Amino acid sequence: MYVNGKFVPENQPVISVFDHGFLYGDGVFEGIRAYNGRVFKLREHVDRLFDSAKAIDLDIGMSKEAMEEAILETLRKNNFKDAYIRPIVSRGNGDLGLDPLKCDKANVFIVAKTMSSLYDTMELKAITVGVRRNAPDALSPNIKSLNYLNNILAKIEANAKGGQEAIFLDHNGFVAEGSGDNIFIIKNGVVYTPPTINNLKGITRATAIELLEKNKIPTRVENISLFDVYTADEIFVTGTAAEAAAVVWVDGRTIGAGKTGPVTALMLKEFEKITSTTGTEIYTAKKAPARAASAKPAAKTAAAKPAAKTAAKPAAKAPAAKTAAKPAAKAPAAKTAAKAPAKKPAAKPAAKKPAARK
Ligand SMILES: Cc1ncc(COP(=O)(O)O)c(C=O)c1O
Repeated sequence: MYVNGKFVPENQPVISVFDHGFLYGDGVFEGIRAYNGRVFKLREHVDRLFDSAKAIDLDIGMSKEAMEEAILETLRKNNFKDAYIRPIVSRGNGDLGLDPLKCDKANVFIVAKTMSSLYDTMELKAITVGVRRNAPDALSPNIKSLNYLNNILAKIEANAKGGQEAIFLDHNGFVAEGSGDNIFIIKNGVVYTPPTINNLKGITRATAIELLEKNKIPTRVENISLFDVYTADEIFVTGTAAEAAAVVWVDGRTIGAGKTGPVTALMLKEFEKITSTTGTEIYTAKKAPARAASAKPAAKTAAAKPAAKTAAKPAAKAPAAKTAAKPAAKAPAAKTAAKAPAKKPAAKPAAKKPAARK
């Protein structure tokens, strides 16, 4: 694995107990997949890592290009063609106080592992959990931070109630996302997904919207209520680790026909096609393609913090593809914030997952 510019065996201890990522969850991370010798949406993931860092005023101390290259090199060192990659950037080593000014520079780790699909099944049971998604004015769900306790509490609750995945509501009672994936519902041939104010700006979510639109399936980004979930014809979730999976049962209600529906099936097929044929090549690419003209690094706001030595000028990035831009076509009838009562999960066994894809 990559640790602050060096490659070390993964069983080697690399982190101090004074690291603020460890002590406080003060840091950011990404989850990225490589398929068939290519890293899927590498640039988008690195952009999101840097955006998460910017949002918590964390100087990663290296350029986006250097981060991309470090990710590719980590895969090369492991001889991986298919892998799950986890860049982690913590505030760095400080003292037992939480003040980030005591941390002189970020620690950067990149871990790569082989990993098949996250779930044992491609037809999930989901539970609407009582714990609410972090409010954007407390800890924005757009920040992929090292503090995933909100998500873990949701997972614990879903596990306890017999679901493979949780459905989070936000504080207004609108559907937000899963514990580690974005959610889509399909009704009368139209696909709906919530705006990203209450969920992570998922890169697979953006890909799914593109794929659906390419296939002339109308997609709408708008608030979704539990009523919309329970009465959907189909539901699927998307995420780098989860990839894409149907949700066929929620809080005791069978969704649609109780199996992967036609829109979800098309999405899964298209997703498999795009992940196996596109991405940044690991072994043949000399370098990641250049980014748009460089911009000066953002001025540090934490005044007393020493500047990171390696802070290379981060390149200005091309504007992110707009994925959630579609204006909401209708105001949803979502009035209720009611949590679904915990019920015994249906006895019906979930469909077996096909063999690991690659
Ligand atoms: C909370 C949460 N929502 C959604 C996602 C899906 O995002 P992506 O498709 O970029 O992996 C993830 C995974 O990164 C996540 O942790």
